[in-house]
Amino acid sequence: VAMLQPDLPLQGKKVLVTAGGTVERLDPVRYLSNDSSGKMGYAVAEEARGMGAEVVLISAPSSLPRPEGVEFVPVVSALDMLSAVMERLKDVDIVIKAAAVADYRPAEASPVKIKKKDEEMTIRLVKNPDILQQIGERKTKQYVIGFAAETNDLEANGLDKLRRKNCDLMVANDVTLEGAGFGTDTNIVTLLDKDGNVERLPILSKREVARHLLKLAAERLPSAGG
Ligand code: CTP
Ligand code: CA
Repeated sequence: VAMLQPDLPLQGKKVLVTAGGTVERLDPVRYLSNDSSGKMGYAVAEEARGMGAEVVLISAPSSLPRPEGVEFVPVVSALDMLSAVMERLKDVDIVIKAAAVADYRPAEASPVKIKKKDEEMTIRLVKNPDILQQIGERKTKQYVIGFAAETNDLEANGLDKLRRKNCDLMVANDVTLEGAGFGTDTNIVTLLDKDGNVERLPILSKREVARHLLKLAAERLPSAGG
């Protein structure tokens, strides 16, 4: 076992990161998505690489530049992301699920542009698989970090997701706070772990949040004796 170098605490480790907001097609020119910018996940990928990890970044569409030195896997929909993640899960040590996955997708994607007709139209949606929950069911050695975007009852909702999805750590953020959530360069997060520890972090840059999460994960990997 290699000694942990203080500057490269993730040397020899594989980190899988998901980022961005999934895009769920309705027809060739229309889709459902969300406001995720990808900034949190891309910051995690860059910091993990800087800490010596081998990084795979599975990214839903984002306008951010592709980080250097990481394996970049572009995906579109939640279903695409699910298969990209599951193909790689068994090889990785840390999973950080920063992507904003659409909870529902259109029941069918029309191959041709949908035509305007009646005064009202209804789009039927079906539930997407919960990727993080499936990771939680299948994980073996992996340290799994999820994110919970909340507008209310932050810690109770975050804890509920931590348990339901069998994560090791849940990063809960109140998206109604100024300086937190979608699109910003900063975040205000509360970390909830499966032993009941609660850590409320001050406003930090997304890179600082990323670094903090990766340090925690490095300390808690099985090979670190934690
Ligand atoms: N997630 C996922 N697959 C989904 C939905 C969510 O992997 N289909 C992941 C997200 O990447 C995130 C975590 O689950 O790490 C929490 O996402 P969030 O939207 O906050 O939770 P949901 O379980 O979807 O609950 P809700 O949106 O109803 O609050
Ligand atoms: Ca959701």
